Amino acid sequence: MSSQASPRLIDAGRQLSLTSPSGDLLFDALWLRERAPDADTLDPLTGQRLIEAAELPLDLSITTLETNNGSLVLGFSDGHTASFLIEDLHQSHALHTGEDISLWDANLESVPQASFTAAMADDQALLAMLEALHRYGFVRVDDVPCEVDGMQPLIDRIGPLRQTNWGGIADVRSVADAYDLTMTQRGLEPHTDNPYRDPIPGFIWLHCLTNAADGGDSTLVDGFEAARRLRVEDPQAFDCLTRVRPDFRYHDDGTRLDSSGPLIETDGNNKVVRVRYNNRTERVAALPSEQLRDYYAARQSFYRLITSDELTLKLKLNPGQMLIMDNYRLLHGRTSFQLSGGVRHLRQGYVDRDSTQSRRQWLRDQLNTNHQGVVA
Ligand code: OGA
Ligand code: ZN
Repeated sequence: MSSQASPRLIDAGRQLSLTSPSGDLLFDALWLRERAPDADTLDPLTGQRLIEAAELPLDLSITTLETNNGSLVLGFSDGHTASFLIEDLHQSHALHTGEDISLWDANLESVPQASFTAAMADDQALLAMLEALHRYGFVRVDDVPCEVDGMQPLIDRIGPLRQTNWGGIADVRSVADAYDLTMTQRGLEPHTDNPYRDPIPGFIWLHCLTNAADGGDSTLVDGFEAARRLRVEDPQAFDCLTRVRPDFRYHDDGTRLDSSGPLIETDGNNKVVRVRYNNRTERVAALPSEQLRDYYAARQSFYRLITSDELTLKLKLNPGQMLIMDNYRLLHGRTSFQLSGGVRHLRQGYVDRDSTQSRRQWLRDQLNTNHQGVVA
């Protein structure tokens, strides 16, 4: 950690340095200039930018620096002066580096839970449900009304239900003329849903009306944890699964859905941001044999992880229980079941990521504001 004064200018004013408990935080002069929180730079009503960063001089620097009661007043070489809250600057770094998710395996101590009734009645409970979903990639919701569209009122508290070629909330039960393996008594291997769509459904809401006495148990695997282990145990396999982009296909009498993407998707910083796994619908291209062999070997390593007891959490949904699952992170499956043990009837809907994320963030802002009021 630096023993020098903070805040201070370095690099001939091209950067600002702030000391934080986790080390020095650096801010580029151009970045600060385009973020200047004043009415000439950002529209006060919408917070949207009024200036164009591409028109700023690339050699822009900070020429003056004053601290003032939790704020920093910076003068820039283009003649602009702006005041920044030091806390906001710290937070903008935390947003980029902070990890607020917890990876888990079969040893997860307790299943994250929420109550439908509480989340319906109380914003704080709704936020707690969404925070658990964000942290673990899934949450089990209890006391959901045992009606076909019982989940709908809670969806309405978050965002629009996604409409697909199957409609909104759809049946998951075994039928004679199944158009998807979902609608049979077969067990389903760990999978993510519908990678043939674009965008892929963000969150799966799976609500149990009745479950089979014999079988039909749910399995859950944290795909980010599986990817993390693969990266450590078999880096070549990890790399291969981030590069090969198999196609995924769902075709029926009236539908032609085709999309492609890697089984493990990383961002520009090599961080895992999405997993896809759907054996039923995957169609890798007829690549040269050498590439295919690498791919099949890599896929096998990943498959062994996502089907391992070490990573698999098992639970059985009872009537009135529902799972909400992050379909970019979680792999879910079910064991096969017997109809002799009673009908098994689940209902399933999809809600997008943006609206779910927006509701969580908005509730955080609202409830924090209120808290400050109470605490102050
Ligand atoms: C599905 C699915 C789970 C279940 O339909 O894609 O994962 O428990 N179903 O039937
Ligand atoms: Zn599924």
